[in-house]
Amino acid sequence: MSGAVLTEKSKLISIQDVFNPESPESTEFRRILLNLDKSKKGGNKQVILITSATLSEGKSMTSSFLAMTSASYKNSKTLLIDFDLRRPTIHKLFGVNRVGGISEIILNDLAPKKAVKPTNLDKLDLLTAGKFADNISELVKVSNVHRIIEEMKFYYDTIIVDSPPLIPVMDTLIFVEEFDAVLLVVKAGVTQRAIVSRARDLLANHNGKLVGVIMNNMTNSLPYYYNQNYYGYNYKSSEK
Ligand SMILES: Nc1ncnc2c1ncn2[C@@H]1O[C@H](COP(=O)(O)OP(=O)(O)OP(=O)(O)O)[C@@H](O)[C@H]1O
Ligand SMILES: [Mg+2]
Repeated sequence: MSGAVLTEKSKLISIQDVFNPESPESTEFRRILLNLDKSKKGGNKQVILITSATLSEGKSMTSSFLAMTSASYKNSKTLLIDFDLRRPTIHKLFGVNRVGGISEIILNDLAPKKAVKPTNLDKLDLLTAGKFADNISELVKVSNVHRIIEEMKFYYDTIIVDSPPLIPVMDTLIFVEEFDAVLLVVKAGVTQRAIVSRARDLLANHNGKLVGVIMNNMTNSLPYYYNQNYYGYNYKSSEK
């Protein structure tokens, strides 16, 4: 699966075009949201951070699918924020402009509400990373993250934040305390156990509320009962 997909006519399409709320993957994302709801402590708003131990484990894809599932299935007013200012991709996945996002909010006093970009889904909006900045470590200060999240909580029920990996850079650990729930994406069969343990310890040391691990890259690693063909039929309505 990839975010930007080339069609036969070589036209670039957005991740929204490959999102299918009825797919088996979507069922897993619904399961995650349901579990998150169960772990919710008071209040209706939920601010969820998606991170990983190292690079390219699937954080941005997971954040995007989780946000689309939240908006379409839970019918929850959802905001997806790209707080990975070093390797931002949310704008690419959704085919929107990168500029006019987090950097401009922090550096140019752009009002967060004005920076919000719509998607094809009524209930899902985006805050992109914004223009490239040289001083990223200064931008990701906890006070900046806090201010943006607090303001956005006024407008959205669910806020999902994509972030940099924990081991190579400090960014995520600096602001991790701000989140109600942290989900760690692990690329199955690739990321070593010791590396994942290190990430878990770093989160614990910085008061990150780790509530779960999302195993990505599970093709051919799942038990037989996850195979849709095992039952000999597609679990769909038989009505025409
Ligand atoms: N389950 C999957 N199946 C196939 N490809 C995947 C899957 N998950 C992610 N990818 C691909 O792997 C690459 C990395 O995914 P993604 O950008 O989501 O990771 P990331 O953790 O956000 O990376 P970074 O650390 O650079 O921010 C992308 O090209 C994405 O399309
Ligand atoms: Mg990413």
